[in-house]
Amino acid sequence: MEQHHPSPSLLPSLLLLLLLSLFFCVVLTETDPNDVKVLNQFRKGLKNPEALPWPEHGGDPCGNPPWKFIFCNGNRVSQIQAKNLSLIGPLPRNFNQLTMLENLGLQYNHFNGPLPSFKGLSKLKFAFLNFNDFDSIPEDFFEGLESLEVLALDYNTNLNATTGGWQFPPSLQGSLMLRNLSCMSCNLVGSVPGFLGKLVSLSALQLSGNNLSGEVPATFTGLPGLQVLWLNNQQGGGLTGTVDWVASMVSLTSLWLHGNGFKGTIPMKIGDLVYLRDLDLNGNQLLGLVPDALGKMQLDRLDLNNNHFMGPVPKFVADKVSFEYNNFCESKPGVPCSFEVTMLLEFLGGLGYPLNLVDSWTGDDPCHGSWLGIKCDANGKVVMIALSNFNLSGTLSPSIANLGSLVEIRLGGNNISGGVPRNWTTLGDLALLDLSGNNISPPIPSFAKSLKLVIDGNPLLLHGSDMKNLPSGDGSSSRKAEPSSSRDSPSSTSESNPGSGDSVESNYSKGKNLVPIVAPIAGVAAAASLLIPLYVYCFRRRKGVSERASSLVIHPTDPSDSDNMLKVVVANTSNGSISTGIWSNGSRESHVIEAGNLVISVQVLRNVTKNFARENELGRGGFGVVYKGELEDGTKIAVKRMESGVISSKALDEFQSEIAVLSKVRHRHLVSLLGYSVEGSERILVYEYMPQGALSMHLFHWKSFQLEPLSWKRRLNIALDVARGMEYLHSLAHQSFIHRDLKPSNILLGDDFRAKVSDFGLVKLAPDGKQSVVTRLAGTFGYLAPEYAVTGKITTKADVFSFGVVLMELLTGLMALDEDRPEESQYLASWFWHIKSDELKLKAAIDPSLDKKEETFGSISIIAELAGHCTAREPNQRPDMSHAVNVLAPLVENWKPIDDDTEEYSGIDYSLPLNQMVKDWQETEGKELSYVDLQDSKSSIPARPTGFAESFTSNDGR
Ligand SMILES: *[C@@H]1O[C@H](CO)[C@@H](O)[C@H](O)[C@H]1NC(C)=O
Ligand SMILES: *[C@@H]1O[C@H](CO)[C@@H](O)[C@H](O)[C@H]1NC(C)=O
Ligand SMILES: *[C@@H]1O[C@H](CO)[C@@H](O)[C@H](O)[C@H]1NC(C)=O
Ligand SMILES: *[C@@H]1O[C@H](CO)[C@@H](O)[C@H](O)[C@H]1NC(C)=O
Repeated sequence: MEQHHPSPSLLPSLLLLLLLSLFFCVVLTETDPNDVKVLNQFRKGLKNPEALPWPEHGGDPCGNPPWKFIFCNGNRVSQIQAKNLSLIGPLPRNFNQLTMLENLGLQYNHFNGPLPSFKGLSKLKFAFLNFNDFDSIPEDFFEGLESLEVLALDYNTNLNATTGGWQFPPSLQGSLMLRNLSCMSCNLVGSVPGFLGKLVSLSALQLSGNNLSGEVPATFTGLPGLQVLWLNNQQGGGLTGTVDWVASMVSLTSLWLHGNGFKGTIPMKIGDLVYLRDLDLNGNQLLGLVPDALGKMQLDRLDLNNNHFMGPVPKFVADKVSFEYNNFCESKPGVPCSFEVTMLLEFLGGLGYPLNLVDSWTGDDPCHGSWLGIKCDANGKVVMIALSNFNLSGTLSPSIANLGSLVEIRLGGNNISGGVPRNWTTLGDLALLDLSGNNISPPIPSFAKSLKLVIDGNPLLLHGSDMKNLPSGDGSSSRKAEPSSSRDSPSSTSESNPGSGDSVESNYSKGKNLVPIVAPIAGVAAAASLLIPLYVYCFRRRKGVSERASSLVIHPTDPSDSDNMLKVVVANTSNGSISTGIWSNGSRESHVIEAGNLVISVQVLRNVTKNFARENELGRGGFGVVYKGELEDGTKIAVKRMESGVISSKALDEFQSEIAVLSKVRHRHLVSLLGYSVEGSERILVYEYMPQGALSMHLFHWKSFQLEPLSWKRRLNIALDVARGMEYLHSLAHQSFIHRDLKPSNILLGDDFRAKVSDFGLVKLAPDGKQSVVTRLAGTFGYLAPEYAVTGKITTKADVFSFGVVLMELLTGLMALDEDRPEESQYLASWFWHIKSDELKLKAAIDPSLDKKEETFGSISIIAELAGHCTAREPNQRPDMSHAVNVLAPLVENWKPIDDDTEEYSGIDYSLPLNQMVKDWQETEGKELSYVDLQDSKSSIPARPTGFAESFTSNDGR
């Protein structure tokens, strides 16, 4: 009965033969006894065997009639169709002895335990194992599955979870007939294997919701027949690299790449995908111009949200299009960008769209807002491109020749290659062109003699030939000393470089005052938009805002996405377990996150806090009290204990959600959860301990606490730390965490004044005292992004706004909102917008406790610019936190790359005893752990912050 691959011409006669033999088999023989044995073991192994109405002992599965759910080919079992029968239990080990099995449908049951090997099931064409609870898959599972056409393993969410996930073994390569391979949420890790690109029959590949990383392998260009490709929502950063390979997949109808880290531009040839109907690129790092061809495609759905696309929004033919949270110059499709913006974006394209500029060069006016490295004159014309030492590569674009107002182009100290465009010589006002320290190739076109050309340090330009083009005679010798200093100057990026501007200065004084323009109108608009929320806020307050949501939101990357999954945290208080469920289209798949090892017994916490002794109190909040705890070996922890009187079911939800979230989110600049207790009515969270307390104390109340004011260097360090922590929170692949309550009282400092962000939706009950509701909300209000306050619509850009306000506070030492200040400066964010571009006013606004040296003013004005950028009125004009990191990192002296090597925390093993865990922390951190919670609302400070000051100072002694 062995059937070999028939050649097509023999097919009819072979079929006849087959039919005849079938006939004889059915008549003459009973079911193969070994098949009977396997089926009986299959049934017996189940927890609920009664769900299969098969005879208890023996029988003839292929008899007449055959057993229910069984189909035979002669005396051999060829199909088992038992989907959605609530079957519970494992599959028998010897399952692959059903060697004639062709079609297996076991989906939507509760099969668990290890998947048996399918090795040698050479007839198997269809295998539906999706929506079960199998917990491992053997390495040899795929061996010899040479007939396999469809394999579905989706939603076996715990496959090989104990060993951290699994990968398709190379033996799958042998399944050359494979058409549909789906393994969504089946716990795949590592990179996408290259051999998948050699399965040339593939028409659908669905691997969403796993932990895949790395680039899509180059072999994927060998899949021109692929119709469905879903690689969306990979956890932990996701897939990277460009999406250039899609251009070869000309049969695609559905392409889902959302929730990954794909980079680069949309390929120009996207228009070749004429069958494409559904394209989702939401939540990647894609950038550059959106090709016109994409606009012309006959799509049913197109999602471009949450990338870094620039330039005009094309006019779309597609039905359902969304393109929010990008850097488009105009928000209306089909509206072109202004001429200057178009030219500058072409220039940016030549440089390969560096991400830091992409996020800064937003909107349709390079002179309005804060385009990094662009300076304008009073008439709103671009006069300077100052991008020295920006790590730029790529080539120079001729488009720049169209910006006739340019006076200076500073591009020294980059890695730009190629020639200088010939038509740049038409820039009549150009007085300085600094290309020193790049990799420019000859020939240099002949510029006017009046131009100061700096081209030293370009290895391809021979010394003799560049001299030819240098201006000769008068003054050139006096300028010659400058070039190298202009290249080395780290702050020449966005500030006019005082060292080398001498000759250019005179040029400006002919009526071209170099005033960075921030149109007053913008300030007024910003102020207005900030006043509206104030009104809304007051109005709401009167109505009583009692339901203050948790500060931390898990928001799906795209609410309108059909594949969108809403994460809901469910707490089971009886056994302390937490499960995160995923609801999609009403059906629920859930799994328990591994938070079990974080559980710490209340008794242990009683011991380490001396039974929650008053002397160990660090602070109080609406939720309860924070205690210092000291383990036997002297290590310290911070213990937050909910007051039993204020425990509501909502509070419990928030408590659980904080654990669920914080047990996933770990970063050196986020305060870490070490554990928690749930016993009886006790709800306790345990954190690392931060000895220097909250930033607010050092910034606003240092005098009353008799502290040293923070130096500018420390402030820069703190700003960078916070930016890094927030960047991490925001960029967690398919889900993005929004803090919603970033402010100095939620930024805690360690012994070395390195900062960590804290307070992730800690149980925030409406406290009994009304006053504290008011102050806490008011305190928070100064940091609220306008669109959030008005519409309640929250995105990561609301945190960026708050971060901008924190920067303003670091600069000025003023609190975000202070009713004791004169009316126009009560609200720091709007006042700052008015003064930030006026050098004198800005200088006057700097925190008087800071040493005002000239050398710090350079970085101060960069921070001022960044603060303005972060608080732009339109959320999509605010940069991402990664941009803030890029701006801040070079300003922080002694910033060691070592700091950077472990962005994500990994060093903790929760199976260890608590003191060992804390030790591990300290070793990774290289410093003591600490935590202090202090509200910064003014009303909580004035008298004496009870208990806190004492314990703070006593801590210091240890
Ligand atoms: C499973 O069966 C139940 C009824 O027994 C039905 O309501 C449900 O839709 C089925 N689910 C699937 C995925 O087929
Ligand atoms: C899955 O885990 C099992 C048991 O831990 C291991 O034997 C097997 O090789 C793993 N499967 C794959 C595909 O790595
Ligand atoms: C296989 O994938 C195609 C899409 O190319 C889909 O239409 C079809 O329903 C899938 N078949 C099975 C059996 O899943
Ligand atoms: C410079 O060259 C580019 C491309 O060659 C052209 O589009 C542009 O119009 C030119 N500009 C000027 C001012 O010559």
